[in-house]
Order: sequence, then structure tokens, then C-alpha cells
Amino acid sequence: MSTLPPVNNFPPEIEQLREQIRHHNYRYYALDDPQVTDADYDRLMQRLHQLEAQYPASVTPDSPTQRVGATPLSAFKTVVHELPMLSLDNAFSDEDLLAFNQRIQDRLKTKDKIEYACEVKLDGIAVSLLYRDGLLVRGATRGDGTNGEDITQNVRTIKSIPLRMAGSGYPAVLEVRGEIYMPKAGFNALNEKARAAGEKLFVNPRNAAAGSLRQLDSRITASRPLEMCAYTVGWVDGGELPATHSDVLKALRGWGFLTNRETDTAPDIQAAIAFYHRIGERRDALAYDIDGIVFKVNSRLLQDKLGFISRAPRWAIAYKFAAQEESTVLLDVEFQVGRTGAVTPVARLQPVFVGGVTVSNATLHNRDEINRLGLKIGDTVIIRRAGDVIPQIVQVVETRRPADARDILFPAHCPICNSPVETIADEAVARCSGGLVCAAQRKEAIKHFASRKAMNVEGLGDKLVEQLVDLGLVKKLADLYALTREQLAAMERMGEKSADNILAALQNTKKTTLAKFIYALGIREVGESTARNFANYFGSFEALAGADQETLQRVPDVGPVVAHFVAEFFAQESNRLAVAALRDAGVHWDNIDVASPEELPLNGLTYVLTGTLETLSRDDAKAHLLALGAKVAGSVSAKTDYVVAGPGAGSKLAKAEELGLKVMDEAGLIELLREHGRQV
Ligand code: IVH
Repeated sequence: MSTLPPVNNFPPEIEQLREQIRHHNYRYYALDDPQVTDADYDRLMQRLHQLEAQYPASVTPDSPTQRVGATPLSAFKTVVHELPMLSLDNAFSDEDLLAFNQRIQDRLKTKDKIEYACEVKLDGIAVSLLYRDGLLVRGATRGDGTNGEDITQNVRTIKSIPLRMAGSGYPAVLEVRGEIYMPKAGFNALNEKARAAGEKLFVNPRNAAAGSLRQLDSRITASRPLEMCAYTVGWVDGGELPATHSDVLKALRGWGFLTNRETDTAPDIQAAIAFYHRIGERRDALAYDIDGIVFKVNSRLLQDKLGFISRAPRWAIAYKFAAQEESTVLLDVEFQVGRTGAVTPVARLQPVFVGGVTVSNATLHNRDEINRLGLKIGDTVIIRRAGDVIPQIVQVVETRRPADARDILFPAHCPICNSPVETIADEAVARCSGGLVCAAQRKEAIKHFASRKAMNVEGLGDKLVEQLVDLGLVKKLADLYALTREQLAAMERMGEKSADNILAALQNTKKTTLAKFIYALGIREVGESTARNFANYFGSFEALAGADQETLQRVPDVGPVVAHFVAEFFAQESNRLAVAALRDAGVHWDNIDVASPEELPLNGLTYVLTGTLETLSRDDAKAHLLALGAKVAGSVSAKTDYVVAGPGAGSKLAKAEELGLKVMDEAGLIELLREHGRQV
């Protein structure tokens, strides 16, 4: 009997962890069926990092910890593709697709139905990944199809790309081709962050993916939410692949690659057309951008018979969807005034058909946005309308700027009430200072007050509110309750019957709830759920109106910003009078029984949260503790009563132990919260 000599003296746990992590990657990306939570996975990675730090010589390039390159490159090397990376012919109608099928049948001299593999056309960047003996050795862009750029360092950072293939039976040399893209959610989050930091935004997820791959420093690429779906193979040596394209995709999945889930085989071209329309209806709901459907003759034997023409295969075609970006001209910019006085620039555009609808307006958000875009009136701009997202101007085509392009001037005075427009330092928004003097703000405040989730006054629609304000019949909220049948009946598109209905609705909705009333006041940043939290915490309107900012922040989900707006609202006499007038008019609600702060169970105790919490988020844990009357501090001191420590707790835990403070884990915290009736 022979035993294999030990390969090295490293703890076997290292290779075991790598195997486990690879297995979980495979479950997560290829199968979309994870067996462990993200936290479990993170713990395995953490442990592996720890052991590799202890045994640096054990580190192999295919270890899951080795995704990010240590040193930035000075330039990308050129890669010559062994087999050119082709592009696809396009189809724009069902007829185009039928003609494509006809060409194939003609060329194959058959009347038999052709089976097609149907896939979404992902809107990203084409890449080639070269594996030798299952190890990723090179990643490259498509480039001009013949020469690409070596982006190995960067593709290695993308978690859905296996550094080492899973399973077995793969060819010794396998070039996997596919698309790297940025899912919509990741793109939006990335742009939100950039917007908040005043940085340049990415125009669309495709540009964001391209820009992320073009980084010489792979640490930047690693921080970007990229994914890669494999959709075909290129160079293959030392092995065989299945006979159909759909089975090749299955094999790729088995080897650990992410393949798109929206795939099917169609027995004939009619079924392929149906697939196109079916996915088209769901396009907006998908987590990533697609710009069409790709149909491929499923039999690889037939693919070979059909061959290529110039730079595209005869056996595949891309049937495109309506473009989500189009160019048009910015005709003018107008300024709208919202409920809180925010002056928002709105672009008036030459109407353009984009993303399936005709667009003639787009919001420009604020002055920063206009500066960022470098926009002038008369410019040709690119409009993007993806799904039901409001249309955006994403780019100025500077080369097409006319000589008479005009700067966009922000008004110094409100276009509605002529009050000065104020811009607060650090705030991107310009605001009309007119408050409820401003008819625009009054209209919006009244619309909000009457809206469904607020007082729910049925029949009091936007148009009617605008007339009532324009005629001076409603100057403040309480004036609604003094309206007469005659006044209402005299409005446009109204009669006595509708007037009676509205009067009845106003009467019936006078009895409301504290939460709805708070929400109806339209205090900045106080949405429906925050209003509900205020109501439940304070129990009465007086308690809320009298609370200082510190007390306000004890309410779940309320931070310094909301607390500031609420305190500011009640500090203004006009607002207090407006509330008093509403109550005089008969608006009422029942108070809610709540304990006074002194009676709260954790009153007087200070908690510090440290380390990772797995069940609760930090914010939730804090909100629960505050709601029970505790204080939550950021650092440990002798004044701390309890430290809640999750995994990875560092110096704060050490300090707590040094001070001999009481320490509990997350389970202990959850038990405590439940004991006091919190639902966690
Ligand atoms: S197959 C020989 N399949 O579309 C076939 N391409 O012009 C070559 N693309 O830049 C491509 N999704 O990156 C194929 N499921 C898919 C695709 C896809 C997106 C991209 C590809 C290329 C372009 C084709």
C-alpha cells in the first residue's frame, strides 16, 4: 500500500476552505441556488484570509482570496484572438427574422424546421476568458475582433468568473466568451454615490461596465458591481463539446460559469418570434439591461455548415428592441416650484420616441446637474428612458452645439410668487422662500393634504385645488373646510352633485388618525412611515410638537436631518396657527397610549454596538434600543452599560473587556428586545 507524500506542510484547512468557497461560488453563480448565507460565506473568506496571512507561502493564484491585483498596470497589453470575435447581424421586425430563417433553410437546402437557441442580448462588454487545464490564464476585451486588450487582472476581480473551473470533463484549452455587464441596481447605487460626491455620472450601465473594465488598477474594478454571463465558446483544444449550443451552455454552467436564465430552445422560427415578444414584455423588470434577443441555430453541425459572412455568423442574428437612448434638442428650460419650495429645472425637448414612448420633458434635478452636464439651451442631448424610470438627459453632444446656444439662468426670484430664491450652502436645491405665500407651494401642500394616504379627501383633485388657490378661495389648509356648495359648484367641470360629494368627503374625513394627520402636514422628509413612527412614539400631537431634536431622534428611523425639519416646522408660528385652525375646523383624532420616557424599560442605559450584526441591521438594532428608552453611543466609555458585540468586533470589545463592562452577543440583544415586546 502506498500513501501519497504530503505536498506541503500547510494546514489542510486552507485547501478545504478554498474548496468550500469554490463550491459556494458555484452554487451561487452557476446554479443561482446558494446553500449558505452571505454572512457564512464571508466568514469562510475571512478565515481563509487569516490562514493565508499566517502561511503566505501557501497562497496560490487560483485561491479565492487572490482576485485583486497588488499593483496597478501602466498599460494594457494587446491580445491577438486565436479565433476572431465576431459580431451579429441585426433584425428589427418579425419579417426580418422570417427572412433570416428562410436564408438558412435555403442555404441548407431544406424545408425542415430549424431549432434555435434563444438568449437575451446583454448590453455590456464582450470578453474572452482563456482557461488552461481549468485555470483562468487570460481575460481579454473583444477590441476590433482580432486584437483585444489583456484585462486579466480586472476580470479576475469579478466573482461570477471562476478562477478555477468547477466539475470535470472540460477541454484542456477552453476559451469562454460572454458579456460583462453591470446590473441595474448596482449601476443606480454607483451613480447615486457619484451624484452625492459631486462626481461625474455614468451615462448607462454599459458605459459603467466598460469604464470599470478599463481601469489599470484592479482594485477599482473590484469595487464595481460587475457580472459576467457566458454565452459561447471560442478556441477549444484537447476535448469535445456537446453537439448543440444549448448543451454547451449547460456544460458551461456545470463548469461554474454564470449563464443567463432567460434562455430557451425554440423548435422553429415562430416559437423564436414568440420568445422575443414574451421577453420584450418583461424587459423592464429584468435586473440588467438587454437590447435585444439573440437567436442561434442550435445544432453546432449546422452552424459549421452555414459558416460566416464577413464579420458575422450566418447562423445567428440579434433581434433588437426599441432603443432606450435617443438624441434630441433642448428647446428651453422651465422652473417648477414644489411643495417644499424646491425650484426644479425641467427640460422642454423636441419630442422624441425613446424606450417605447414619446418624450418631450425631462427633469434636470437641480443646478448641480445642469453644471455637471455642461448643458446649454439649444444643445443636442442624449435622452435615456429605461423602463418606467423618468426620462433623463444623460449627455450633451458637444460637437453639435449651435453657435447661438444659451446659458441656463437660474431665477433669482420665484417664477410663481416672486419671492427670493435661496440656495443654502451644501444644498444642491434652490428654494423659493415664499412658503405658503407662494401659490405653487400652497397648491402642492393642499394636494398633499388631501391625497389618499393623508386626509384622503375624495374628489378634491389637482385641477380643482389649482383653481381654488388661483381664485384665492383657499389660502391655508383650514380654508378647505369653509368652502361652500356655491363656491365649489362654480368651478370648472363641477356641478352641484360633485360639490356636495366633496363637502361630504371633507366632513367625513375630519376624523382621522394621528399618523395620517402628521403625514398630511407635509413636513419635509416626513413620509408615511416616519409619521407613523412619530405617532406611535409620542402618542399625542402636543408631545410631538413640543419635542426637542434629541428626543425626536429617539424615534425609529429618525436621524438628525428629519429631527431638524420637524423641529423647524413646529418652531414656525404660521405652522402652529395652521394646525390650530384645522382643529378649530373640526379635524380630530384619538391619541395613542404610550409610556412616558421615564417609564420606558431601558431608560437611563447606554449601549454600544460593535462588530457585524447578522440578523438585525445596525440601524434597526439602534432604532429598537432607542424606542425602549436606551441611549446608543458610538464609543465605549465608563458611562457605557452594555456592549453588543458581533463577529469581527475589534478595539471596542477590547476596551469593554478592559473596563469590565457587560458584553452581549446579537442573540442576547434579540432576546432582550423580544422580552420587551419588540418584533425582531
Ligand atoms: S453571440 C458569433 N450571444 O452582442 C456570435 N452575443 O454583435 C457572437 N451579446 O458584442 C456573439 N449577448 O458581446 C452573443 N447572448 C449573446 C449576447 C451577445 C450580448 C453581444 C456580444 C457582441 C454583440 C454582437
